[in-house]
Amino acid sequence: MNENKIIDIENNLMANVFAKKKIVLEKGKGVLVWDIHGKEYLDFSSSYGVAALGHSHPKIVKAINEQTKKLISCHSGFYNPKRAELLQKIVNLTPNELNKIFLSNSGAESIECAIKLARKYTGKTEIISFMGGYHGKTMGALSATWDKKYRKPFEPLIPDFKHIPPNNLAKLQDAITDKTAAVLLEPVRGESGVRVSSQGFLQGVKKICDNKHVLLILDEVQTGFGRTGKFFSAEHWKIIPDILCLAKPFAGGLPIGITIAKENIMSSLKIGEHTSTFSGSPVVCAAACAAIDVLLEEKLVENAANQGAYFKSRLEGLKNKYKIIKEVRGLGLMLAIELRKEVYEIIQKAMNRGLLILNAGRNVIRFLPPLIVSKNQIDRAITIIDSILGEE
Ligand SMILES: Cc1ncc(COP(=O)(O)O)c(C=O)c1O
Repeated sequence: MNENKIIDIENNLMANVFAKKKIVLEKGKGVLVWDIHGKEYLDFSSSYGVAALGHSHPKIVKAINEQTKKLISCHSGFYNPKRAELLQKIVNLTPNELNKIFLSNSGAESIECAIKLARKYTGKTEIISFMGGYHGKTMGALSATWDKKYRKPFEPLIPDFKHIPPNNLAKLQDAITDKTAAVLLEPVRGESGVRVSSQGFLQGVKKICDNKHVLLILDEVQTGFGRTGKFFSAEHWKIIPDILCLAKPFAGGLPIGITIAKENIMSSLKIGEHTSTFSGSPVVCAAACAAIDVLLEEKLVENAANQGAYFKSRLEGLKNKYKIIKEVRGLGLMLAIELRKEVYEIIQKAMNRGLLILNAGRNVIRFLPPLIVSKNQIDRAITIIDSILGEE
């Protein structure tokens, strides 16, 4: 099929809900992807943070191949060795208290589970989330998401969701009532511009939640799996939530959502109250086991911290050179530059020059390169951005 035909079919037959870029990607290897004409791109978007190990990592390919030959589907109503292996690997990586897991298929689903769990365990209905927060687009996750453009067309949403300003502990104290079940937040707000929680805020939230007997749910869908230079970003602030939501890169590119809770909390859900046909599917579990192994064996969390620091210093260098850059921010390999203008044209130019990057709002360019990225690849990306900004 040629490029125009592919684009026509997707445009005509697929729900028109994605802001599409006009390239047809056909192949990927490590940090690189190639379009249908064989043009090479440095993928500093990682499919929105999914391809943390790079594209088609051989160990992920092998794990998927081997599992597909054995058993592709196995409902969680039966037991399966790969699922058991994955559950064990996850609890080995999480703090001791977080030891009961629900597996699902996406970030939004991991949030849905957390919301239901918080309501079921506490017997209360209210969830407090934050202005600028993004938690997905299913009705529950959407109710916690802030941006009006996503919410408005679907109102009324789930009742008893409140949004308060981030980084303001007094406002949180005031917002909690005797109906509050949980506080839900992203330690680094990704979609709203890569905004790292302010100094002391997360520790303060944890203290308030504990004092008021309100659950703390951390949404680490984007920040988990080493992205910020720690396995979970919460480690930067040394806090442990009651419920942790993970997704994106955990299955090496296959769809997964993971909700981990303290045992007494997860045990409040009874048989049949929250299930999903594909929960803990063996192929996904095999890929996720391999993904965790690769992350640890290749020391990619450390690489994210080291290369992230280097990348950030190079971006700071650009900020010193170009007035158009207002701020450089982020943690590990979750980085951004905020510009004094809209970024869409720059992202398009970068794509034309062989670099895939993301926006996060109108003025922010977001970088989520695979955690395997090298110094040399960062230098290549910087050269491209430098050349574009030099023309502004
Ligand atoms: C922090 C956060 N939570 C939840 C989601 C929703 O995940 P999904 O798109 O897999 O439903 C995202 C997606 O970008 C996210 O960044």
